[in-house]
This record gives sequence, C-alpha cells and structure tokens, in this order.
Amino acid sequence: MKLKGLKVGLAVTGSFCTFDKIETSVKVLTELGADVYPIFSTNVQFTESRFGDTGEYMDKIAAMTGHDPILRVEDAEPIGPKSYLDILLIAPCTGNTLAKLANGITDSPVLMAAKAHLRNSKPLVISISTNDAMGINFKNVGELFNVKNIYFVPFGQDDAVKKPTSLIAHTELIPETLELALEGKQIQPVLK
Ligand SMILES: Cc1cc2nc3c(=O)[nH]c(=O)nc-3n(C[C@H](O)[C@H](O)[C@H](O)COP(=O)(O)O)c2cc1C
Repeated sequence: MKLKGLKVGLAVTGSFCTFDKIETSVKVLTELGADVYPIFSTNVQFTESRFGDTGEYMDKIAAMTGHDPILRVEDAEPIGPKSYLDILLIAPCTGNTLAKLANGITDSPVLMAAKAHLRNSKPLVISISTNDAMGINFKNVGELFNVKNIYFVPFGQDDAVKKPTSLIAHTELIPETLELALEGKQIQPVLK
C-alpha cells in the first residue's frame, strides 16, 4: 500500500536532537503524496532546547504540511470520533511518551492522539529515540511490541560504548514502515 493520498498523523515528542531527521522525513512523506497532520507534545511546545528554536521548528513543520498543528489534548481527541487519520506516527518518540503510552497515560496531545487513533483499530508507528530504551524503558518497549496495531520503525544502538542503553530509529525507513503497517505487518528486520 502506498502513502499517496493517505492521512498521516505526525506526533512529535521531545527528542530535540532528532528534529532535523524528522524534518527530512516530513519532506519525504509529503513528496510521496501523504497528507501529514502535525501534533506536538506539550513538553515540545514549552521546552527551550539548545538544539534551536522550537517555535520556529513547529512553524516550519506546519508550513511543510499545510495543516495547523494540534497543540492541545482537546484538539487531539476528535481523532477518535472523526477517525480521519489512516495511520499515526510518533516521531521522534521519547522515553517519556513511550512509558506513558505503555501504561495508558493520556496527558499530552500526542498521547491523546495515540489513544484516540488506537480506539479505531488503525496502525500506530513508533520511531524511538531515547537514551534509556534498553535501561529503565526496556520493559515498555517490550510491552508495546505486544500491542495490537502498534509497529516500530527499525532501530539500533547509536553509541554502544558511551550510551549502552540508547536506541534510535532508522528514520530513513519511516515510509516503508508505514506502508507495511498499513497492511498489518511489522517491517523486518526491526533490529538493525
Ligand atoms: C535538549 C533536550 C534533549 C532531549 N532529548 C531527548 C531524547 O533524545 N530522548 C528522550 O527520550 N528524551 C529527551 N529529552 C527529554 C524529554 O524532552 C523529556 O523527557 C520530556 O518530558 C519529554 O516529553 P514528551 O515525551 O511529552 O515530549 C530531551 C530534553 C532536552 C531538554
């Protein structure tokens, strides 16, 4: 299944060092004809990051997609009843959002979007980026692997020596991961 004409939710969480990669992914997805709906976590909106101006980043992503970003829980909630997304991508997905998702917590626009979207039995794809993925969050990664309609962008260790518990997704595989998830399949190999 190709992405042309499909509505793809892009839920961005606070892995600020990964923002450039996600901008590239948005460019690729829109070039492939996907209609991308940006969603930003509350922490993204209110964190002053040393990786650049977050407000400018959100404006840039919104302009690239042609949609106003979803910034509040109450604006993410209609994703459930209106069921307008074909697929939802959390990219980058922090350890914080991963842990909350695995435990049914819904206190950010991204988590509300995930809950609302999953209620419609549609695919949710996680593009992980966190230093504790193989540490305190390992159990949550495992938990989410076992949840119906949740898929992972293939990931690997980004610095096994200095950050032995860190995992980062291979974001260049996002389009392929989405296409297979839309067919109900986890792209393989997931460990790279
Ligand atoms: C500069 C900076 C970079 C960060 N990078 C990451 C990261 O790569 N992965 C991660 O899981 N958390 C990272 N964090 C921490 C998250 O932003 C923090 O846990 C936040 O509460 C996440 O909220 P969210 O998941 O709702 O976006 C970073 C924080 C800062 C200030």
